[in-house]
Amino acid sequence: MSKRFYITTAIDYVNGQPHLGHAYEKIVADVIARGRRSLGQEVFFLTGLDEHGQKVQRSAQAEGKPPQVYCDELAGVWLNFVRKLGISNDDFIRTTQPRHKAVVQALLRKLHDQGDLYKAPYRGWYSWKEETFLTDKDRRPDGTFDPAWGEVTELVEENWFFRMSRYQSWLIEYIQDHPDFVHPPSRRNEVLSFLQSRPLEDLCISRPASRLSWGIPIPFDPDYVNYVWFDALTNYFSVPAAHGDPAALAALKGYYQPDPVPEAPLELWPADIHVIGKDIVRFHAIYWPIMLHAAGIEPPRQVLVHGWWQKDGQKMSKTTGNVVDPVAVIDEWGVDAFRYYVLRELDIGPDGNWTDAGFRARYSAELANALGNLVHRTLSMLHRYRNGVVPAPHAELEPEATRVITEVRTCLEQNRLQDALISIWSLITRANQYIDHTTPFKLAKDPAQSGRLDQILYNLVETVRVVAVLLWPFLPTTAARIHAQLGFQGEPDRLATAAWGGCPPGHTVGKPEVLFPRKEG
Ligand code: MSP
Repeated sequence: MSKRFYITTAIDYVNGQPHLGHAYEKIVADVIARGRRSLGQEVFFLTGLDEHGQKVQRSAQAEGKPPQVYCDELAGVWLNFVRKLGISNDDFIRTTQPRHKAVVQALLRKLHDQGDLYKAPYRGWYSWKEETFLTDKDRRPDGTFDPAWGEVTELVEENWFFRMSRYQSWLIEYIQDHPDFVHPPSRRNEVLSFLQSRPLEDLCISRPASRLSWGIPIPFDPDYVNYVWFDALTNYFSVPAAHGDPAALAALKGYYQPDPVPEAPLELWPADIHVIGKDIVRFHAIYWPIMLHAAGIEPPRQVLVHGWWQKDGQKMSKTTGNVVDPVAVIDEWGVDAFRYYVLRELDIGPDGNWTDAGFRARYSAELANALGNLVHRTLSMLHRYRNGVVPAPHAELEPEATRVITEVRTCLEQNRLQDALISIWSLITRANQYIDHTTPFKLAKDPAQSGRLDQILYNLVETVRVVAVLLWPFLPTTAARIHAQLGFQGEPDRLATAAWGGCPPGHTVGKPEVLFPRKEG
């Protein structure tokens, strides 16, 4: 057994509407996961749903359904969404699953036995809508709370707390010693200056069951349920534990046994990358490593933080109708057009802006014209001039192809997805220019140029093959279609096969089919 590359996304609130932001995060994680598989690594990719909490309880009540039934129905919508995006996850966690609850309870019992948890009165201004206690920082200059918080009332109640403050100096040192733990560096600096500027408050990790029953019961105090963030963050660890990960089982020894016992245990922990949005950095870069460290568990290797999408320069909002519906875009343009736009438009880190005009422009110039044309022209010419049979190898475009293969490999290793696409398109552009400069359609009219025509056709068909391999992590459907049109079996899912010269002479390619149909308007 060897450790797999373990990557996760945030788990989405089950009662939210799947939107562009959720789609983007899953696609980013999917490309990284596929990229690592393409590099030959064994990967485990986890995504899923956050299903407990006040809002779910209330929405279920409003619909007259038991919360579990309500969650089960919504989970179907999310699973379809994940499939629609072409996500290659290996597991799907729902925080209402028994396998998850068992690990949350085990962790709570261990921390309780160690004296990391204590009970104390909690007083605060509570936003019922956002299920969170607010602080003075959340007040507006006139002292009131923004109406966006919904109803806010003062609440005093006994609760369970986690002694986070104990571990503050450990975490500062850990982040200083592990420069890649939070990426990009701007987010790391934010976390560090937050930690260095004030003492950490202990984390309230419970809610009275009388007020909130839709949660995981605190195992040593049945009047309480676990509060959502402790529950939600633990998903990243409960799945490895359920798969029999040795590090997880060692850390939870005496508190947890996987049920059922996995036939083939997986080695997953520590997670290699948690992909998350900028709004939940503090939970992942402060609470989570402290929770783990307190329980004697190694922190994840990296929290990779992406920015937020807007549409037309404004926050997306259902009330104003300013939204991008990923499913509608995919139904109209295809999944890879959607994946391409979000990955090419926005690097991991900064905020992005979706515009329909920008989407159409990239679709038409970069997908339909540049990529679509290259594949179509290459296969058409090979059929017209050589009956679809690949000529003898030739290496005129090899230097460019090799440069791009190397660049894409580095980008995949460093999670630089946008740079990888820029690099791949430089090869596509080069190959299209090569057609324009070498004019194979003219050479074909002159039998004396037959040898030269063979060379050109080989360079083109081989470049198309290389492009399909390079594209696979990003646009898996398109890559597979190109590969099939080239007459090859299986998926172009191994970067090692991109090396120049892989297209065998004498091989017969298939017929070209339009990859990205041109759209009117
Ligand atoms: N349930 C919590 C996460 C728990 S993780 C242990 C949650 N859920 S969420 O549904 O609100 O958000 C899920 C992810 O989507 C988060 O990483 C969040 O940053 C991301 N996005 C939500 N809106 C977004 C945009 N407009 N743009 C990009 N990503 C956004 O938070």
